[in-house]
Amino acid sequence: MALFGLLPPQASSIAPDVDALLLAWTGACAVVAFGIFGLMIGFAVHFRRGVERDRAPGRGLHHPDLHHAIEWAWILTPLAIFIAMFVWAADLYAKLYEPPGDALRVSIVAKQWMWKAQHPTGRREIDTLHVPLGRPVELVMTSEDAIHSFFVPAFRIKHDVLPGRYTTLWFTATQEGTFHLFCAEYCGTDHARMGGSIVVMPPARFSAWLAEGDPVGMAARGAERFRQYGCSGCHDDRSTVHAPSLRGLFGKPVALADGRSAIADETYLRDAIVLPGKDVVAGYEAIMPSYEGRLAEDEILDLIAYIHSLPAEP
Ligand code: CUA
Repeated sequence: MALFGLLPPQASSIAPDVDALLLAWTGACAVVAFGIFGLMIGFAVHFRRGVERDRAPGRGLHHPDLHHAIEWAWILTPLAIFIAMFVWAADLYAKLYEPPGDALRVSIVAKQWMWKAQHPTGRREIDTLHVPLGRPVELVMTSEDAIHSFFVPAFRIKHDVLPGRYTTLWFTATQEGTFHLFCAEYCGTDHARMGGSIVVMPPARFSAWLAEGDPVGMAARGAERFRQYGCSGCHDDRSTVHAPSLRGLFGKPVALADGRSAIADETYLRDAIVLPGKDVVAGYEAIMPSYEGRLAEDEILDLIAYIHSLPAEP
């Protein structure tokens, strides 16, 4: 049910849940609004000027006992309703931002005024995103300039895309077809034209599509950058420089020099590359130079994919 055609189709696993919450909220607001305005109009007509009514205090609704009962009712009933709504919405929110572990990861780089996507196989696309039907997809998103926002109404998902950090979003498409993608954050002159489409394909056709043109995988491209930018000079197995090993690092906790610890996720690795002084690993000198401004966002994503691909043992 897409609400009598008023809403876009429900094309993701989360869409019916989001619509149910929206409908419940709209219903609750409608009941309150009609209740208040109905009483207001009713009383205004009933007690209008020139009509003989009993207007003395201490009667009817003003009776002291009834008075308290009514006050408790209008305090506790909305409180119970709002707490129930909060629990419901918080549960859905947690679901929206907790991707399942087996999700297919796709990198998204936003830029005035286009969406660039790169799949782990290295296949790239602009303003279009191909995804498989019925499989969770996690987007790791960043921006090269302003703040953008990735919005797919048919999937009921939206998240800001920020420069200098990664944000994630996930969905499982439940309908084949092509769906609108919008930028939902004003980002400059052509903001209104910054959009595209999400193409949902059956898994077999998607796999074939992914391999088309025999692209170089992100990890392989990252390995090339790793040498090209001199990372291997210190971080390679054979290097004699005292630098942290990157093997089996991805997703693991890292002890830092100032006693804190961090999880080696995309954001941590990105910061380690562009802001090496921020989280110095325990037992090492802060000698790594910053690569800020020297690497494009998709090159950083390639490097992270390469680090992700490194097995714990050589
Ligand atoms: Cu990008 Cu608005």
